[in-house]
Order: sequence, then structure tokens, then C-alpha cells
Amino acid sequence: MKEAGYEVAVYPGDGTGPEVVREGLRVLDALGEGGPAPWHCTEYPGGGQYYLRTGREWEPEGASAARSADAILVGAVGWPGATLPNGDLAGRALVLGLREGLDLYANVRPCKLYPGVRHRISGEYREVWSPRNVDLTIVRENTEDLYTPARGRLRRADETEVAIDTRIITRKGSERVVRFAFELARSRPRGAPEDGVRRLTCVDKSNVMEGCRFFRETFDRVGAEYPDVERDYAYVDAFAQWLVRNPEHYNVVVATNMMGDIITDLASVLQGGMGFASGGNIGTDHAMFEPVHGSAPKYAGKNQVNPFATFFAVEQMLGWLGARHGDSRLVGQAARLDRALARTLAGGEARTYDQGGTLSTSEAGDRVVAAIHSEAR
Ligand code: IPM
Ligand code: MN
Repeated sequence: MKEAGYEVAVYPGDGTGPEVVREGLRVLDALGEGGPAPWHCTEYPGGGQYYLRTGREWEPEGASAARSADAILVGAVGWPGATLPNGDLAGRALVLGLREGLDLYANVRPCKLYPGVRHRISGEYREVWSPRNVDLTIVRENTEDLYTPARGRLRRADETEVAIDTRIITRKGSERVVRFAFELARSRPRGAPEDGVRRLTCVDKSNVMEGCRFFRETFDRVGAEYPDVERDYAYVDAFAQWLVRNPEHYNVVVATNMMGDIITDLASVLQGGMGFASGGNIGTDHAMFEPVHGSAPKYAGKNQVNPFATFFAVEQMLGWLGARHGDSRLVGQAARLDRALARTLAGGEARTYDQGGTLSTSEAGDRVVAAIHSEAR
């Protein structure tokens, strides 16, 4: 426990990032009222729009703060036309760069449907899944696979003839993320909604790919140390349909990076859309938390997007800091925030446009702040 409090480095980033981060910081302020807050947030500029203005993705202070902070909160990065000379996304330093640079090897994406949240499928709002059937967490490997910067082009004269991305799966990378997922599966008291079983599902394509075979072998080897967790297997294509058809079967899911990227967006539909999807990028000594919807340039500056993904990212951050430092103050505040979010959602009081509502980003924030005030500390 840190008496002096935890330092949080905040990067609002591009587009709608600053709008949702502003609400996230208000929520943190509301939680901290009535005593010295056990955290302190400092904002740093950066991202694609910053790059277009300054020629730099971020400043040296921002980059070093990410290393020294106790936790990191990122809004969103990416802006049309903001591209580095090598063709990469400008602002990548704040997301992919931190994942690589701080070795944030586990990308943890909770997918829980709260009562009162609607789904939007083929243009209509529907109640498709019962809230009690959707409560899973996907753990995505976050440092290797097709994301490893082992790629390039072969050119003849000035013409690209071949483009190559190399899929790298290592023993170390697989083992640590699989272990992380087994620990998480063990720690979730309610197990899968279907039957209460503490289940870990390994999603891969081991009927075809060598890297996936190796990943699954590692899953079985590490899994032998967790006899209390049921081992479950799915090929990624079949998983895509089972996830939608039968989400109650899943408790924790582990996958390699690229497949994890795709199935987490699919899973977000089950929880009401990307407006509710948060992610924690967790390493041994560092962690970064983010809403995963991206900068949404079309909505930038309109105060319209759903801030709940950021609220859930803040909740994940407080829970992680509390667990890491054995600090019950933060664990308690994460639980308090979850109760406030659940209550606001259940009442259907905070619906932004993506939920068929009319509230603005900041009005949704007002409702959550009010709910925090009425939740006991
Ligand atoms: C995510 C995002 C990123 C990824 C992008 C912004 C590079 O889609 O966090 O899922 O592909 O990992
Ligand atoms: Mn993604």
C-alpha cells in the first residue's frame, strides 16, 4: 500500500478520447471526495492529432511518465491522415508502443452484460441475451503473434511484389499469458453462468497452425497445475458461432493476439457494443487501461459518445492497483464504482445515442457521478 497515493499517467489522445477521459477523471474525482484521494492523475498530450500539429507522437515527459507511473489510462489514438513516415499509425507509441515497451503481455477484456443495457443488431434495439448469461473475460496475448514487428515488403524496382507478416509464438509469451488466464479463471467465484464451473477455454486454430498447436500444448502443460479449473477447447471459427449462440458456457477465454483482437470485438456485441468494452493491458510491473472503441473521428467534438467503456476501464484500473498493492481502499472503490455503474444502467437513465438514448457524453457522466455520491464509501 502506498500511503502517499498512486500516480496515474493519463493520455486523452485523439478524437473522442479526450471527451470520454474527461468523464473518467470526473468519476475518479467523485470517488475520491471526502478525503485525500489515494491517487493522483496527470494528463499528457500525444497521439495522431498531436503528431500532425507538432511532428511528435508525444513529449519526452509523457513517455517517461508512462514508465514511472503506477498505472496508465489512455483515451484513444488514431486520426485520419496521421501516419508516420514508415506507414504506421501516428500515436501507436501510446498503445502498441506501450504494450511492447512495457511488456504488457496480457490484454484483459471483460464482457459482461448489465441489466438495462440494450443490443443493437441489424439496426434495431433488441433484448437478445439475458444479462445473467453474459459474464466472461477474454485474455488476449498482447506482445507477439502477427503483431510482432517482424514484417516487411519485397520490392522489385519500385513495385511491391510480396508483403510478409511473421506469426511468432514463443514459449515464454504463451506460458505467461496462459498462466495469467488460469489464475483469473480460478479467482472468479461465480464461474460460467451456465453451470458455475471455473472454466478456461483455449481458442486457437490448432487443427491447422503450428503456433496454435504449440500454444495449446502450453495450455495443457500449465493447466495441469490447475486441477480446479476445467480445460475447454475451441477452434476459433467454431468459437465465433458458439460465443454468440451460447455465451453462458464461457467463463475465461485465452487466445493468441490476432485471434484475440477479432473475438473481443465480436464479444463486445454481447455486452451492448463497443461503448461498454474496456481493456486492461497488464504486465509484471506496469499496466495500461483503455476504452477499446478508438477515436471515432466522426463523433469527435460532439459530446455524443458513450463514456461507459472508460468508466469500466477506470474500474479495472482501481481493481488492479488495489490487488497489486494489497490496498483495500482501491478494491473498495472499484466495487463502489461497479455498483454505481450497474445502478445507473439498470435504471436506463444514462443512454447515449448508441443505446437509442439522447444523453450526451457529459450528461451520462453526470448520472454516474450522482450515483457514486449516493453509494456508500
Ligand atoms: C485493440 C485495437 C488495437 C489492436 C489497434 C488500435 C492497433 O484494435 O486494442 O484491440 O489491434 O490491438
Ligand atoms: Mn481491436
